Amino acid sequence: MSSLPRTRYIRPRLHFLFSTISCYNILMNEPKTIVAGIRASGKLHIGNYLGALKQFVELQNDETKNCYFFIADLHALTTPFEPRELRGATLDVAATYLAAGIDPNKCIFFPQSQVLEHTELAWIFNCLLPLGELERMTQYKDKARQHKENINAGLLTYPALMAADILMYKGELVPVGEDQTQHVELARVTARKFNNRFGKTFPEPKTYLQKPLRIMSLQDPTKKMSKTGDESLLLDDEPKEITRKLKKAVTASEPGKKSPGEENLMLLLSFFGKDDEIRHFTEAQNAGTLKYSELKEVLANNITEHFADFREKKKDLLSHPEHVAEILAEGARKASAVARQTLMEVKEKIGLL
Ligand code: TRP
Repeated sequence: MSSLPRTRYIRPRLHFLFSTISCYNILMNEPKTIVAGIRASGKLHIGNYLGALKQFVELQNDETKNCYFFIADLHALTTPFEPRELRGATLDVAATYLAAGIDPNKCIFFPQSQVLEHTELAWIFNCLLPLGELERMTQYKDKARQHKENINAGLLTYPALMAADILMYKGELVPVGEDQTQHVELARVTARKFNNRFGKTFPEPKTYLQKPLRIMSLQDPTKKMSKTGDESLLLDDEPKEITRKLKKAVTASEPGKKSPGEENLMLLLSFFGKDDEIRHFTEAQNAGTLKYSELKEVLANNITEHFADFREKKKDLLSHPEHVAEILAEGARKASAVARQTLMEVKEKIGLL
């Protein structure tokens, strides 16, 4: 029975020690852990670039952040896919991120499916999360409606895997768009439930909201840009395509109303224009003398130039896909070392052998 007073004696001191450590971390600017998954499907457009990719590059360059970026290829299996295309799509996304400035020496960049611990932790979380919480996720309801012929269980347990992705690295900040905030919230709930039941293990992650950036469709500037047809500028577009799509961009307005197309082009100019160009077109806009053809030409030239280096790097990377695969495998090795630790801690706390 002599252990009782001893525990009493040690506890407050341990508590004191830990709170001192966390104050120390804050004072010393201990890096915050950022975890973000990248959708493995589809080409990126300029809205995705400005809203997400560009921010990832900034985060990896920020010394107060410790970044894990991965391609969520396991999540890609929840919606219809072609086995023949999946590998190519994953390498394409990887090449896109690398060409746009993701540096595997400044962040850990890997494919989710190569760190086996993700699915193991996801299973454990599946057994912790109530079915009701999963069923009320908006994305689940939307996708189940969209893919009636394929409402697989993965679609439902998607957020458990996402919680595993984040908590595996004890992620604190999760840069995602608004459509994913509900899932991050559920990862918080997961962390809390786990900590309450098995002892403090995970931080409660928060959304690091990307600036709500609404780059609109070039064809119908009242709705958000999507990847289809001539409504978007893709990062992969060749200069001719960029010019052609911008020339066709709709700028018409209803009488007495502002032109949404014009606003959209001016928004693009704010990102891609030089200071004097921005000044010039803003003045013209205020004076009502804005020439759309002139604005479109400046935009086409600047956007073409902005992504020239990107296009070249990406082509170069994709001409050596085995090199891209090796960069990803190296990232997976680094991530695995951390993941193994977390999973060991988790299994021990749960009581698995
Ligand atoms: N579900 C996210 C999306 O569709 C991708 C994702 C998977 C993710 N796992 C994650 C994002 C973990 C952040 C953290 O965009």
